[in-house]
Parts: sequence; structure tokens; C-alpha cells
Amino acid sequence: MEKRNEIQVILFPLPLQGCINPMLQLAKILFAKGFSITIIHTRFNAPKSSDHPLFTFLQIPDGLSEAQTQSRDVLLQLTLLNNNCENPFRECLAKLIKPGSDSETEEKRISCLIDDSGWVFTQSVAESFNLPRYVLCAYKFSFFLGHLRVPQFRREGFLPVLDSEAEDVVTVFPPLRKKDLSRIMGTIAQSKPLDSYLHKILETTKPASGLIVLSCEELDQDSLAESHKVFSFPIFPIGPFHIHDVPASSSSLYEPDQSCIPWLNERETRSVIYVSLGSIASLSESDFLEIACGLRNTNQSFLWVVRPGSVHGRDWIESLPSGFMESLEGKGKVVKWAPQLDVLAHRATGGFLTHNGWNSTLESICEGVPMICLPFVWDQMLNARFISEVWRIGIHLEGRIERREIERAVTRLMVESEGEEIRDRINVLRDEVRRSVKQGGSSSRSLDELVDRILSS
Ligand code: UDX
Repeated sequence: MEKRNEIQVILFPLPLQGCINPMLQLAKILFAKGFSITIIHTRFNAPKSSDHPLFTFLQIPDGLSEAQTQSRDVLLQLTLLNNNCENPFRECLAKLIKPGSDSETEEKRISCLIDDSGWVFTQSVAESFNLPRYVLCAYKFSFFLGHLRVPQFRREGFLPVLDSEAEDVVTVFPPLRKKDLSRIMGTIAQSKPLDSYLHKILETTKPASGLIVLSCEELDQDSLAESHKVFSFPIFPIGPFHIHDVPASSSSLYEPDQSCIPWLNERETRSVIYVSLGSIASLSESDFLEIACGLRNTNQSFLWVVRPGSVHGRDWIESLPSGFMESLEGKGKVVKWAPQLDVLAHRATGGFLTHNGWNSTLESICEGVPMICLPFVWDQMLNARFISEVWRIGIHLEGRIERREIERAVTRLMVESEGEEIRDRINVLRDEVRRSVKQGGSSSRSLDELVDRILSS
């Protein structure tokens, strides 16, 4: 019989922090199931191979110029990457599948390719090698299904939204409000490239062999039940990947500031509000200063991640008024990047002011940390609605980046009885989601099915 470690799975993450983390976590889960793992990756945002010594890493050129790697326009970056990477990816795969005499890789049967839905050329490449392709959906599944309909919404004349309708729920994409959907659909200039990209995602996902979803029945039951209307292949919602029972390791592109942990150790239980807006969102200087003043005025302790370059026109936090940090008397700490999973798991962390990227949202749910929602774009808009209106495990700022609003939200969450009720609800959800990955749970069963599929591919 074929041993699993003779079966190779090839993974190809989209080079964004929010996509690299789940892909490498999935790699660890499959490695723990006995598969051998090869990661093909771009030069741009290359994962650190030294953090994963048991995997094989193969880098391909991506053709991005230095200026393009610095761009804030993610859609443009993804378009360029998709245009530039097809041939290098094909050549890399060809060498793996038919290793020549110069190959350094041992010969192992390649069972499948797993890559992100945002790669739109990989399906045809995989087909040309007769290789099954599984697509990773790193969004909440209801967003994944809904966002593929954005071109249709636009064709049906969704925009523009009148002020009087802004708060109305979008009946075809609940619980989004119309104002949220406008943010997802982007500006007129973005509409053509965005719709064309989404169309390609749909067309190149449909013929895949299956979809691996970074979610679980407990969080996405309705949309999972709907999925057969769009896709005829099997869907594997295998839960939050990071809580599966596999050894911890980092896939951070930036160096986490470990001084956060001793600082948290000195704080009271659930007394600290953690603030982080993920790896892409950026702020105007005035919004940055409103957040700073709002946090200071709460008189609560806070740990704030400000990525270098994330405040427009500034290197880091130099626009804080002089004496700002001193005025906090040790109650505030600002870092460039945090060990977020450890911060959220720390007993001192009592709340999370977040942009609601799906990874951050899941990580917060899994630790029972209630949220203050400050979504900027894309799936963040939907995640924030689920948090504030469906699961009721957080407070929505409704985009109001004003010191009084921030102060009020932090106080409601951290001090008032409303915060206690929110905490009780998130703890119930945390337990349900964590149960899903335990033996016999919904995600654990889906993972077993996925493993069987890969073995039989
Ligand atoms: C992006 C999109 O913005 C998001 O909406 C989408 O769901 C995934 O891709 P990002 O903005 O980076 O991701 O947010 P998120 O999904 O939350 O991922 C950020 C990751 O970086 C998380 O896993 C988080 O733990 C990690 N992180 C963040 C750190 O390790 N340290 C930090 O200081 C901040």
C-alpha cells in the first residue's frame, strides 16, 4: 500500500498575509495527516521557509517591480501577479511532475494542487497536467458566495445608493446594508477590472475538484446549505485552521514584537483593548490621531499595532502629539507587529478593535474576545455585520473614526454590563466553533472526508 508521506500535496498561496496564514496552517494540518508538503510561492511576500523546515519551498519569479510591491492597490497587484506568474508556475509544476536528472526533489506521487481562489490561471495549468485542483476559500463562506454575484448586482443597477437607503439591508446579500455593498463594489474606475476578475474566479473555481473552506457549519450553515446551487463539487468546511491540533509555528511576513507578552503579563485580567487593522488597511493622519485620542480618553490599557507606512504620508507614529506616550503613564503600548494569536489568547486581553479581516475575526472568536468593528473594505464589511447584528458579539463603529465614538465603544465593551452580555455570547460561540474541530465535530469530519478524497485522487 502507498504510504501517505510518499504522497505530495502542492500548495500555492496568494502572497498576502491574510492568505498565507491559512494556507500554511492548512499545510500543517495535511502534514500532520501524513502528506508530504511542497509550497510554491512568489518572490513577493515570500513565506519564511526557515519557519517550516519540514516543507519544501519553491520560489517562482513574479515580475513585480519594487514600486508595484509597495502599491496599496491590491486588485492591481493581484491582476499583475495573475498575468505574470502563469508561465513560471507551469514550469515549476512541470519540473515537479516530471523531474529531470537535475532535480533535487525526491520522486513522490503528486496527488493534487491546493491554491487560493484568487489565482485564476491555475485551473487550466492543473488540467493540462491532469492534476486535481482544490480551491481554498479564505473568506467567510457567505461572503465567498455573495461576492461572486457582484458583477450581477452591478448589471442589475445596484449603484448609486441614495442616503435614505444607505441603512437598508441588501435582501440578496444579507446582512449587508446597502452602504456596505457600495464599499465592496468599489469606485466606477474599479468596476471593470473587479468584475472581470470576479467572473474569472467563478469560472475557474467551478471546474475544480473541491473547495476547502476556512469556516465551519457553526458559522456558515445557511450559505453552506445553499452552495449546491452554484457548485457541484464537494465542499470541505474544515473550521478555523489554527485551532486544529498541530504544532504552532508562525507564518508572519513581519517580525512580531514579543515584548507584548511580558507587557500583558503585568496587566489585570481582561483589562486591555487590543487594536490592530490587519496587514493591508491604512489610515489618514487625522483618523490615526482620532483613534489615538479616543484610546487615551478611555483610560483603559491598550496594545496598538501600527504597521510602518500604514499612516498616510508618515513612516510610523511620529505624528502623535509630543508627550502623548508619556501622558498614558504606561497604559498604552504601540508596536509595529504583534504575535496576534498569543495576544488574543492572553488573559489580559479583554477586547479587540479590529478591521474584521476573516483571520482576525476567527482568531478573536476562538479566544472569546469581543470585538469593536471598524471594517474598511471587502469581506470585512460582511464579517462586521455578522459580528454586530447576527452573532451579537461586538459593537459596530459604523465607520465613525472619531475620538468620542471610539471612547464610547471601548467603554461599552470593557466597562459596562452590555460588554458582559457580549462576552457571554462570544464564549458560547467560541465553544461551539472549538468543538467543531474536535473528534466527531463537523469540521473534523469534513477534514476526514478531504483526506480521503486526496488519497483517492
Ligand atoms: C486580508 C483582508 O483584508 C481580509 O479582509 C481578508 O479576509 C483576508 O485578507 P488582512 O487585512 O491582513 O487580510 O486581515 P486578516 O484576515 O485579519 O489577517 C491578518 C493576519 O495577520 C491574522 O492572521 C493575524 O493574526 C495576523 N497579524 C495581524 C499578526 O500576526 N500580527 C499583527 O500585528 C496583525
